[in-house]
Amino acid sequence: MTAERLAPDARGIARAAQLLHAGRLVAFPTETVYGLGGNACDGRAVAAIFAAKARPAFNPLIVHFPDVDAVSAYAVLKGDALRLAQAFWPGPMTLVLPMRAGAGLSPLVTAGLSTVAIRVPDAALARALLTEADCPVAAPSANPSGRVSATTADHVLEHLGDRIDAVLDGGPCDVGVESTILQPGPDGTRLLRPGGLPAEAVEDCLGRPLLAPEVSERPTAPGALASHYAPKGRVRLNVEHPRDGETLLGFGPVACALNLSPAGDLVEAAANLFGHLHRLDAMGVTAIAVSPIPDHGLGRAINDRLARAAAPRG
Ligand code: TXA
Ligand code: MG
Repeated sequence: MTAERLAPDARGIARAAQLLHAGRLVAFPTETVYGLGGNACDGRAVAAIFAAKARPAFNPLIVHFPDVDAVSAYAVLKGDALRLAQAFWPGPMTLVLPMRAGAGLSPLVTAGLSTVAIRVPDAALARALLTEADCPVAAPSANPSGRVSATTADHVLEHLGDRIDAVLDGGPCDVGVESTILQPGPDGTRLLRPGGLPAEAVEDCLGRPLLAPEVSERPTAPGALASHYAPKGRVRLNVEHPRDGETLLGFGPVACALNLSPAGDLVEAAANLFGHLHRLDAMGVTAIAVSPIPDHGLGRAINDRLARAAAPRG
């Protein structure tokens, strides 16, 4: 597959929106960096984003909307969050907000968390695409894991051209560094990642200093957030034959309560992972056994997540 390079005109935008709607991956420019976009309500599209980035872990992704009004169906905006949204959106700011349950976002987008990172970018082309796509668009920076972020369509094509469907070419990004990530909370607003919006501007708006992230929340090690979702039940991995009292979370053609992918498809398994873990919780399961999952491609990220879930709890 070689990605289509789409022109920044009505035809290019329509094609990009059509691809996103069909669950395909489209890189597009925001004012910060190029994002690797997929429909945030389509678990397979979100899984495909992780596969394209070759991320060894599921880090929660930023979900993009065309305007502030579109956000409220998916997340709760009040207090500091509302003030910041009104002051700095559209712009290079991401807010981590309480998610509205049942709004339809894939649990993989948030790595199973109850909060969601949301951004309304300012770049006209990004907003035109988001308006036309008419779905929330999950987009991490459009670089393979461990590489620098892409600020031109050529950067994107060089590293991801054989793994995505299209790139909307809007020329170089203005800001060039990622968005500032903030998490408003009851005791103040935390700065989770410095970025394109200066912290001083945020503090001026709020009239008080930003709080440092909690040590466990520093997004230095991808997927290492302590708040990452873990199921309530005990987890045992690489299980062919579950013990009495264990509920099998299957992979491939096995008899089990819930199957990540009966066909043994890692993209399908990733898309189902967090939803199934939540379902096991809802079923009141106290001991989870997981079928062996191949440790390549998305299997590595699935196994990373399950290994954390299986680790002794503090
Ligand atoms: O400028 C940007 O922010 C670009 C453009 C494309 O919008 N996007 C971007 O995404 O940089 P990404 O995936 O590379 O970085 C997202 C960061 C990750 O460090 C992740 O840990 C954090 O956002 N994040 C996402 N959801 C979170 C949540 N619910 N709680 C805490 N951190 C979250
Ligand atoms: Mg990134």
